[in-house]
Parts: sequence; structure tokens; C-alpha cells
Amino acid sequence: MRGVFRQAPRGDVVMFAKRIDRVTRSATMELIKTTAGKGYLSFAGGLPDPRLFPVEELRAITADVLERDGAAALQYGAAEGYEPLREVAAEILTGRGLATHSEQILITCGSQQGLDLAARALLDPGDIVVIESPSYLAAIQAFDSYGVRYATVPLDPGGMEPAAAEAALAAGAKLVYALPNFQNPTGITLDGGRRVRIAEAAARSGAALIEDDAYYDLRYEGPSLTPLCALADNPWSVYLGTFSKSIAPGVRVGYVRAAVPLIERLAQLKQITDLHSGSLTQRVVNEYCRRGLLEPGIARFRQAYAARRDAMLAALETAMPPAVTWTQPNGGMFLFVTLPETLEAETLLQQAMAQGVVFVPGRTFHPDGRGGNTLRLNFVSEDESRIREGMRRMGQLLREGLSG
Ligand SMILES: Cc1ncc(COP(=O)(O)O)c(C=O)c1O
Repeated sequence: MRGVFRQAPRGDVVMFAKRIDRVTRSATMELIKTTAGKGYLSFAGGLPDPRLFPVEELRAITADVLERDGAAALQYGAAEGYEPLREVAAEILTGRGLATHSEQILITCGSQQGLDLAARALLDPGDIVVIESPSYLAAIQAFDSYGVRYATVPLDPGGMEPAAAEAALAAGAKLVYALPNFQNPTGITLDGGRRVRIAEAAARSGAALIEDDAYYDLRYEGPSLTPLCALADNPWSVYLGTFSKSIAPGVRVGYVRAAVPLIERLAQLKQITDLHSGSLTQRVVNEYCRRGLLEPGIARFRQAYAARRDAMLAALETAMPPAVTWTQPNGGMFLFVTLPETLEAETLLQQAMAQGVVFVPGRTFHPDGRGGNTLRLNFVSEDESRIREGMRRMGQLLREGLSG
């Protein structure tokens, strides 16, 4: 058996495959776990506000679906997903300016699964992924697990800088990963002109494009922008959507939109992963949408979250010393704070936790390891008065840190 097992750092013999070494724990998830339910003013999590979940509607619909469909709702189903729900997703995307047929849809277990399946289908170890820095942590982790390298592209208030993305693509990058709306972790939106440039550059160089649009529905102002996938003809473009932010994340229903041959390959991968998404939940989400509940539900999320975003922006204005800056999101759940270069967000977090406040330091979102003086704040999971109190405590610490 010698040679089959490998030595772990502590000297133990382990059985894990080599690629597991690239999968590390998420600092965010650890922090959320250790601080949950302990009374912290928490701006750390990525969680929507559970008070806005449509519990009653889903309870009634689940009963109706079981009454109507009976055992069929509990049987195995197709890997591609429940056909009526594929049609709903296609209609949603067509409404966003991305003309879609139901055959181009694969229903997934949240958009996270779509991301993993697309990365698994398209990326080999050593391939270069063009990625915003900072970017979505669980995407970085998924890409890491496939052994890719990164061409990081800085963000400014208009989103990913297109010239840097174009240069990386011209130099042979395999895939661009874009977060077009209210990017996690910064809240920044990619502007219309840049969308065209990046989509065209990917298509021109024969690269794949993954457009992760988890926050599309959470827009609080300004017109919706056309998805990148609609802006250039690219057989390797993949759009990821989800019902996590518009209904509830625990239903774990998302979808991938891509060209039919690519969907067929992704469906094969889905099959070897989990056969298919839950038959009952797919029917429940389908029924929720077909009863016209999606739009009013989204309106409730938007109304509550917009007020909290406003409260956080106002509280930051009042509480923060002048050397601290932050983004101004038009939607989503997060904003991003930049401290003076001399301060470390990880040190601030230790001090903030002693004052009952948690957030996520920004370095963890940077594939290039930068961002030590940045941090992410979730503005949707605390109410307005707790947001004001949290910002007051953080502002106080920063004033002391800067004067000391
Ligand atoms: C940018 C982004 N993409 C994807 C996801 C995954 O969402 P889900 O798998 O619940 O659809 C999240 C969740 O927070 C996210 O922030």
C-alpha cells in the first residue's frame, strides 16, 4: 500500500485525493458559525433576512402541489429539471433581455451548483480564469478546486476594468467570470459599455464566459442592464440565475442558461453529482412563480433592503473618519469599505468583536491576496437601529486607531 497514502503535515497518513489540498475552509463561513446566535451586531454573513421569506405561501403551495401531483412530486425526475420550471426560467431570462428557450435551461441546486458544474466542464488545471479582484469567495474556492490560475482584474465604480480583461483574454485566458450586478463583495455594477466590451472580447478570443447574476432582482434604483450573455454570440457563455435572493436560499433552486450542446454536457455532470434537483421543491418554486407571487415577493425584499442600505450609507457618513471610503451600491446585499493603507481589517475585526460587531475582512475575497485594508459589510440582515449602532462602534474604533 506504500505510495497510495500520502503524509499529512502532522505526519498522519491520509487518503485524500490531491485536489482536496486546494479546498480550504471559508473564513466567512467559519466566522458566521462562531458568531451566530451570540448577540453580535453582525454584518458578516451572506444571509438574506429570514423575516421576508414567504413561509405561509410556500406552506400552502407545498400542500397544493402534493394534493395535485401526489406521488409524481416525490418521484425521480430528469437531470435537466422539471419542464414547467425550465419554461419559467426561460421566460424570466427572456424578460431580462436574454432570449432563452427552455431547452437552454438546466435546473440546479442553487446557482452555486451551476458554477461548480460549469467550472468542472470547462476548466483544466493550469487554465487561466479572468476574475474580478475582489470576487465572490465561493467561486474562488470552486475555481481553486480545479487548479486554475488567475488573471485578476481590478474594479472601479464602473466594475471590472475592460482593458485589463481584454488583455488577459488576448493573452490566452480560458474563461471570464463576471458578477454583473451588485457584485459580492463590493456591491459594484458593471456598466453597460463595459459589458459589451468584455462579452465581445471573450467571444472574439474563443474564451468561455460565466455570468453569475445572483443579485439581478435586488435592484433598488436605476434601470436594469442587459446581461453580458446577450451582448455577444458566444457558444461558451453560461448564465447563472437563482431563486435564493428572490424567494429563499433554502429551497436551493437555481438555473444555468447556455447553448443546448453545453447544457447537455452540464446535465450529464449534474447526473453524476446528484441525479437531479428535488422534484417537490422544483414544483413548489414553479407554482410560486406561476401564481404571480414572485414579483410581489421581490418588491418586499427590495423595499426592506433599500431602506437598510440607505441607513448604512447614512450611518457610515456620520460615523466614519474622513480617510475611510466605501462603495455606493444600487442594489444587492453588500457594500465594501476601504480603510487607510496603514490599517489592517483583520486587526480591526478583533477589536470590533470585543465591541460586539462582526464583518468580513476583505483579503479573503482577493484572489491575488491584496485588500488587507478592506472589509465587506452586509447591510440586509440587521435592522436600521442595529446598523446605526454597529457603524457607530466601528467608527469609534477607527477614529481611535487613526489617532493612536
Ligand atoms: C455572487 C453569488 N453567486 C452565487 C451565489 C450562490 O447562491 P445560490 O447557490 O444560493 O443560488 C451567491 C450566494 O450568496 C453569490 O453571492
